[in-house]
Amino acid sequence: MSAKPYSPGYLSKLERLTTINRGFFTYDEGMKLFDEARRSMAEGTAYAIEVGSYCGTSTAFLGLAAKATGGVVVSVDHHFGSEENGPSWESFDKSLFDRERGTVSTLSRFRSMIHSLDLEEYIAPVVSTTSLATKFLRDRADFIFIDGGHGEEVAFNDYFSYVSLVRRGGVLAIHDVFEDPSKGGRPPFEIYTRAVASEQFTYMSNLGSLYFLRRR
Ligand SMILES: C[S@@+](CC[C@H](N)C(=O)[O-])C[C@H]1O[C@@H](n2cnc3c(N)ncnc32)[C@H](O)[C@@H]1O
Repeated sequence: MSAKPYSPGYLSKLERLTTINRGFFTYDEGMKLFDEARRSMAEGTAYAIEVGSYCGTSTAFLGLAAKATGGVVVSVDHHFGSEENGPSWESFDKSLFDRERGTVSTLSRFRSMIHSLDLEEYIAPVVSTTSLATKFLRDRADFIFIDGGHGEEVAFNDYFSYVSLVRRGGVLAIHDVFEDPSKGGRPPFEIYTRAVASEQFTYMSNLGSLYFLRRR
C-alpha cells in the first residue's frame, strides 16, 4: 500500500470543502471512511462503490482510498437529490435548486469538488438511479458505501440491489444508522439490522451513525 495520498495542506482544503458542502458528512466520518475503505481495497481488487454522491464529500474520501491503493471508486447518484433534500425539508440547500426541474441538482458541485481535490483519475461518477446502475454494475467490490435516499423503499432497494456485490471478506458501510429513533429516520437502521440478521455480515465498528460490517 502506498504512503498517505495527502499532505497537511491538502487535508485543510478537504476539511474546508467538507464544511462548504454543509454537513451531510463530517470530516471525521470521512477520515474513518477513508481508513476502512483503504484497508479493504488493499486486500482485494481496489474497487469500491458508493451509493449517494450528493456534492461529493464522502466521495472525496473514498477517492483518496482509491488513490492510495491504485484503484477506483464508482459513485452512483442521479444528482437530483432525495426526497429529504426537497424545498420543504430541513436539509434543503437553496443554492442547489434547479427551478426548471423543481429539485436540487448536485452534479456541478460534485464535479467541482472532485476536480479541485485532483481526484478525477480515481472516481468514476455514474449519473443514474440505483435500479439502472445495478443493471450493469456486476463485479464484486471490496467496499460498498450506502448513503442514498433515506425513505423506506429507496433504502431497501439500495440494500437489496448492492448487497450481493460485496465480495467475501469485503465491507458494507451504511450512513445515518440511528438506534434511537429520536435521533434520525429508521430506514438506514433497518437495512443495517437486516444485514446483521441475514448472518452474512458481522459488525466491525462504527463512528457515530457511520457503521461498518464485514461480509463473512
Ligand atoms: C444523503 S445524500 C448523500 C450524501 C453524500 N454521501 C455526502 O457525503 O454528502 C443522498 C443522495 O442519494 C441520491 N439518491 C437518492 N435516491 C437515489 C436513487 N434511487 N438512485 C441514485 N441516487 C439516489 C440523492 O440524489 C442524494 O444526492
